[in-house]
Amino acid sequence: MKKKILVTGGTGYIGSHTAVELIGDGFEVVIIDNLHNSEADVVDRIHQITGVKPHLEIFDICNKESLDSFFTANKDISAVIHFAAYKAVGESVRKPLEYYQNNLGSLINLLGAMKEAGIPGLVFSSSCTVYGQPEELPVNEQSPLQPAESPYGNTKQIGEQIIRDTTRAVSTIKAIALRYFNPIGAHPSALIGELPRGVPENLVPYITQTAYGLRDELKVFGDDFNTPDGYCIRDYLHVVDLAKAHVVAVKRLIEGKNKSDFEMFNLGTGIGVSVLEAIKSFERATGVKVNYKVTDRRPGDIEKIWADPSLANRELGWKTLSSLDEAMLTAWNWEKKIRSNKG
Ligand code: UD1
Repeated sequence: MKKKILVTGGTGYIGSHTAVELIGDGFEVVIIDNLHNSEADVVDRIHQITGVKPHLEIFDICNKESLDSFFTANKDISAVIHFAAYKAVGESVRKPLEYYQNNLGSLINLLGAMKEAGIPGLVFSSSCTVYGQPEELPVNEQSPLQPAESPYGNTKQIGEQIIRDTTRAVSTIKAIALRYFNPIGAHPSALIGELPRGVPENLVPYITQTAYGLRDELKVFGDDFNTPDGYCIRDYLHVVDLAKAHVVAVKRLIEGKNKSDFEMFNLGTGIGVSVLEAIKSFERATGVKVNYKVTDRRPGDIEKIWADPSLANRELGWKTLSSLDEAMLTAWNWEKKIRSNKG
């Protein structure tokens, strides 16, 4: 019998790539998504890639009654991967209550339902944002957490605390938080990828839209940082590599190989890349020039951060395989594909 994994937010960017990898590894995938920031036809695209269409339930997990009745009907779930959340930093500053309500309300409902139904394993989407601007680089899991810069970041910190307290109190629940650095790129099939609504906030969708001619120019937020070339540094990892880490984490919980009730892992390449280097990588990989202009810094931006992923390398047996150029090429192929479909 295939083990059944619940993926909340499974039609979203990282969730859909993870669903593909789970199916490829022999799991049955059930998705709950309210389609707030994604499309229902993503399950058809997952079907095209894998030959299996995951079951999709469309509702909001902030609705406790719906979630509880889902679990009553699905007591055979082996583990939950929880992606469903709001993720726009700027928006979270304008709408803090919506962010706390949505990101924490859903997590609390989920943990409550897991406790009731006796479902043992949770993998939680966390973020390197919990580290703020670290004093020492690269950051490992022991690096101190900094006060969050935004309500969004705070929901990730508080989310981790809620999970820690719950795993202490509820002996049946074990959890892993995965702290993502900067996921980029798309599935090599170009059937799934990142679909930002409106003007993209993140760098790579902005690069691909500018290269495609949808935006006049990319605004680069500052070139006077204390970094070798003056541009901000991040750790960009291919979303397919990131998705694979979730499969490993789920197996670790199911097989009881976790070393404590709540574990945390950094997921990154271990390589810091500046915004300018990222633009050059895109140009090199695709042969397309990006029109960009340096503007003021973006408030709240962190100067430099990259991962020490050695704990995940060692404990999960996971490491990134794709290069930055490969990831950029997949992001570009996805951009071209969605535009040609719309055209
Ligand atoms: C941001 C959040 C992070 C969150 C992630 C989710 C902050 C400090 N961090 O990551 O917590 O998990 O989004 O989406 O907000 N850049 C430009 N021009 C652009 C866009 C970005 O120059 O139009 C630069 C930024 O200054 C930054 C880099 O590109 O140096 C990456 O930015 P972005 O893709 O927005 O990711 P983060 O800021 O790292």
